[in-house]
Formats: sequence, C-alpha cells, structure tokens
Amino acid sequence: MGERERWGTRVGLILAMAGNAVGLGNFLRFPVQAAQNGGGAFMIPYFICFLLLGIPMMWVEWSIGRHGGRYGHSSTPGMLQRIWDNPAAKYVGVIGLFLPLIVMTYYTYIESWSLGYTFFTAFGSYWGAPEFEPMVNFLRSYHGYTGLDLTAPGVGDVGISYFSSVAPAYAFFVITLLVNIWILSKGVSGGIEAIAKIAMPALLIFAVILVIRVLTLGTPDGAFPDNNVSAGMGFVWNPVPEALSSSSVWLAAAGQVFFTLSLGMGSIHCYASYLRENDDVALTGLTTAATNEFAEVVLGGTLAIPAAVAYFGLERTQELAQSGFDLAFAVMPTLFQQIPGGQLFGSLWFALLFFAGITSSLAMGQPIMAFLQEEFGLSRKRSAVVLGGIIFLLCQPVILFNQQGFLGEFDFWAGTFGLVLFATIEIILFAWVFGMDNAWAALTDGADMRVPRGYRYIIQYVTPAMLLIILGTWLFGTLPPVLANEPSALYPNGPAPENIPFINAARLSMIGVYVGLCLALTWALKSRKATS
Ligand code: PHE
Repeated sequence: MGERERWGTRVGLILAMAGNAVGLGNFLRFPVQAAQNGGGAFMIPYFICFLLLGIPMMWVEWSIGRHGGRYGHSSTPGMLQRIWDNPAAKYVGVIGLFLPLIVMTYYTYIESWSLGYTFFTAFGSYWGAPEFEPMVNFLRSYHGYTGLDLTAPGVGDVGISYFSSVAPAYAFFVITLLVNIWILSKGVSGGIEAIAKIAMPALLIFAVILVIRVLTLGTPDGAFPDNNVSAGMGFVWNPVPEALSSSSVWLAAAGQVFFTLSLGMGSIHCYASYLRENDDVALTGLTTAATNEFAEVVLGGTLAIPAAVAYFGLERTQELAQSGFDLAFAVMPTLFQQIPGGQLFGSLWFALLFFAGITSSLAMGQPIMAFLQEEFGLSRKRSAVVLGGIIFLLCQPVILFNQQGFLGEFDFWAGTFGLVLFATIEIILFAWVFGMDNAWAALTDGADMRVPRGYRYIIQYVTPAMLLIILGTWLFGTLPPVLANEPSALYPNGPAPENIPFINAARLSMIGVYVGLCLALTWALKSRKATS
C-alpha cells in the first residue's frame, strides 16, 4: 500500500464531515420523529441527548479515528484493536463495517427516490392530483406495491399515470449507486472531499430558499385560519415538559441524535482517520456536531412540518407522519401542487434531499472501502467495484420486498438498534479499557479548544451510564415483542402473518452479512500471516 490518504484542506475536511452528518436524517427522519413524538415534547429530551450523548460520542469517535489513523487504520476492526489488545477486538470492530453496509443498502435506495422525484416534480409527472391519497398511491406504485386500487374514483382514477412496476425505481437506484461508487473510486480527497465542496454549499442555498418559501406560506386557506405556518413552528418549538417521563420519547430522541450525527456506525472514525497525526479533533468534532444541529433543527425543523401544518393542519399532519416516508414523498408533493412555483420549489426540495443523501451514503461506503484496501490490499478501484457489487446484491430484496418489510427491518436493526449497541461498546472500550487518561490525551492532543473538564466525567460516567440504560431498555423492553412477532415498536399491530417469512429472511440475511464479514476478516488475517 502506498501513501495513506489524507484530506486536502481543513475546509474540505469540515465540509466532508458536515456532509457525512447532514443527510436524510436531518430533513426526512427528524421531522417524522418530531411529529410522531409530540413536537415540542420531543425537543427537550432531544437536546439533553445531544449534550450528553451526541457531543461526547462525537469526540470519542473522532479520537478513536485519529488514533487508529496514526497506525494506518481507517476501519474499526483495526482501530478497536489499538485501544483493546485482544483478539476479539477485531470482530467487535466488524460491527463498524456491518452497520454502514446494511444502512448504506437501504439509504442509497431512499436517496435514489429523491433523485427520481426531482425529475417527476420538474416534469410535473404527478401534477393534477393535489390530494394526499393519490400522492400516496403514486409513491406506493413507484415502490412497486401490489394490491393498490388505482382505479377507484377520487383516489386512484384521477387522471395521473401511476407506475406499473418497480422498474423506474430500480433504474434510479442503479444510477445512484453507480454515482456513489464512481465518487468513492476517486478517493478521499479527490472524490468525497471534492463532491462535498460542491454539494454542501448547494444544499445550504437550496435549504435557505425553501425555508424562506415556507415561512412566507402564511395561512394558505382563509377558511382554515388555524392551519398556518406559525402553528407548525409552535408545534416544533414550544416545549412540553410532561413528555420527559415517557421512555419511548427518550429512546426516539437518543436514536435520532445517533442517526443524524452518524454515530455508532464506524463512519466518523473512518473520516477522522484521514487527519494528520496532530490535527485538532476537539474543535472540529464540535463544529461538525453544531453544523449538523443547525441543519437539523433550524433548517430541517422549518421545512416539512410547518409546511404540512399550513396545508393540512396539525392533527392531520401528525397522522400523515405516522408512516415514515409519506411526509416527504406524499405530503410535500401534495402541497407543491398547490403553491405558485410548486414545480420549482418541489424540485429544489428533492434535489436538497439527494445532495444531503449522497454525501452521507459516501460516508457509509468509505469504511468498507478502507477495510477492503487495508485488510485485503485491494486497489481503490477494485474496492469500489467490490463494494458496489455487495450493495447491489443486498439491495435486491430491499427493492423487491419493500412492501413485505425488508427495508423496515434493516432500518430497525442496523439503523436504530445497532447504533446504540455499537456506541455502548465503543465508549466502554475507550473510557474504561483504553483508560480515561489515554482517552483524554487522544481527545485533547493538538486541540484547538479547551475541552471543558466536565466532559471528562461525562465521557467516563454519564454517557456510558445513559447508554447502558438505553441499551437495557432496548434489550428488555423494545426487542422481545418484536422477536415474538407481537405488537411492538416496529409493528404497532403486530407483523402481517404473510410477511413473517420475509421478515425472518431479512433477519437471517443480516446475520449472514455479519458472519460473512467476520469470515472474510479471518481469511485476510490468515493469508497475511502466511505471506509475512
Ligand atoms: N447522519 C446521516 C443522516 O443524517 C446518516 C449517516 C449515518 C451517515 C451514519 C453516515 C453514517 O442522514
């Protein structure tokens, strides 16, 4: 292997890291979580989790990443080995490959919907049916759902053409994946950083234009004076302290903080490993977290929900947000058809999602790229091709059996539970096994800011304790009914019996991927020993 890859410039690094964190989580997941968990009721736990879980874990992951990078590691198997000298460390580190791989699979697919919808909106493909129901049908037909009644008057038969198969979605997915793989094959500074320098400023401009548009929506229909933008803003922003005692709101808040900051995945570590030995991690890590929160609560919080409340009212918006992707891909298309310039603003909305998405899916792909290069000695191009092949294979059931729950399973186990699990393991290894003195040095070495001393105790005690409680709530509260196919957080009415084989297949395939990665690692370690 030649020279280690490095970030080109500090600005480039910051944009790449911001691109990593700012993603579909900010504009799509956050509004849905906020709406489902009572708006202002969600925000207090959310901010507490940001301060006590988000910021410390961000520092932990930057520190582990830069430390690992000093020894030439950019993926978590090698990094964890450096802080925990035990043969098991590498296999625990495999979780930091497994999670981004699974999440990248469905994330890239969702990202490809926003690419598709950018065009459908620009060309007015769904124009002429400004109601929620036909827009949901349009979305479901795009996803290849069967059993939709597309001829019912007023719901289906409204003069727009629906998709007759999943083929267009499939095509947009293939394009999106190819673009991702092509960028990754160009390397850290030549690919990821170069794209971030274009995508991040563009994203900010799009978001600001859209925020202004939403804030000037006012009260669109005089007949419904309560349906207006300020009611929407108030819903997101007026704190509701009673919700502090709801454990499900806390779990949702913690889960959102993890997902949106890209924590517990192996991704932040990977990007941080391309720093130089003594580059600052404290201030830059904090900057990343702060930038992400600005994009999430200020920009993300001002778009989908206030717009939806202005047109649909508060109650209906909360109802419509129950089903994850409908807010962005059905509610928003409904209202774009009702505002002047809707085609333009609508295309900007979906382009914004696409730009936000791609800089994050790259961040999920890079740890796998690094793993293939480091452990197997593959070239960057070859690694990109292998990664593309794996994602392409894994995505087949996600695309074809989305209706049966494949995507939801991946998102639940890897994109929600997995993050908490990996973060808990990491912080314990870092603060307790590597030891707090080493940990503190790993964070503060070369730092451009004074890290408040209180954070030493937070990292050592508070964050691990909170994580253990959250993990315990998952293991003993949330997961058992899911595993027993009972009504659960994942399936509020229990899974449909005909979907259970698919659900089991999704879970088995995830186990298969983890075991496969472990075997690949074992093989790589053996063959390296044999040749050295
Ligand atoms: N933080 C990204 C988002 O908000 C998702 C992500 C998670 C990206 C993990 C990389 C790694 O969409």
